Amino acid sequence: MTEQLNYNTRIIDASETIPVRHPVLRPGKPIESCNFDGDNLETTFHLGIFLNNQIVGVVSYFKNCNDLLTESSQYQLRGMAVLEDFQGKGLGNLLVQQGDTLLREKKIKTLWCNAREVATTFYQKNNFTIIGEPFNIKDIGLHYVMYKTLT
Ligand SMILES: CC(C)(COP(=O)(O)OP(=O)(O)OC[C@H]1O[C@@H](n2cnc3c(N)ncnc32)[C@H](O)[C@@H]1OP(=O)(O)O)[C@@H](O)C(=O)NCCC(=O)NCCS
Repeated sequence: MTEQLNYNTRIIDASETIPVRHPVLRPGKPIESCNFDGDNLETTFHLGIFLNNQIVGVVSYFKNCNDLLTESSQYQLRGMAVLEDFQGKGLGNLLVQQGDTLLREKKIKTLWCNAREVATTFYQKNNFTIIGEPFNIKDIGLHYVMYKTLT
């Protein structure tokens, strides 16, 4: 708990996500595989969590609608990643909570993501619910669409 006092969260550029996206989400793959379509759009934003000046976790938010959901003001959460040595310390929770706050300020009502099977519990603990059937993303594996309503 004391350790968490040294962490701070802030908006970052897309390029700052790469030192976390690469080892956590695309290990052994070319660095270009860490760039997502829409990373630099004006409607996209990225959050980083830092320990002193070291970035240890990232998450990105894209203005994007999923046909499984009816609400028109939707955002998609992507690239959720915490460096392995820093996982399990509550940093993922902090990032999601901060993202929710910023989305509420933008009057966004629904947040969704394509959740890796291994991460579904993490998202459930952050109030996301599975909708629809699981599907496969090539080279990554089984995913579920998960969403939550921001109240
Ligand atoms: C998923 C990930 C972002 C979670 O970040 P984190 O900082 O480790 O998560 P937290 O410590 O904030 O955990 C939050 C809660 O989720 C739970 N949780 C986190 N990862 C979990 C996992 N893999 N399995 C089960 N529960 C998990 C924690 O136990 C915790 O529960 P609690 O609030 O009841 O204590 C991180 O583990 C990660 O980067 N994993 C690899 C990449 C990945 O799978 N990203 C998601 C892509 S869809």
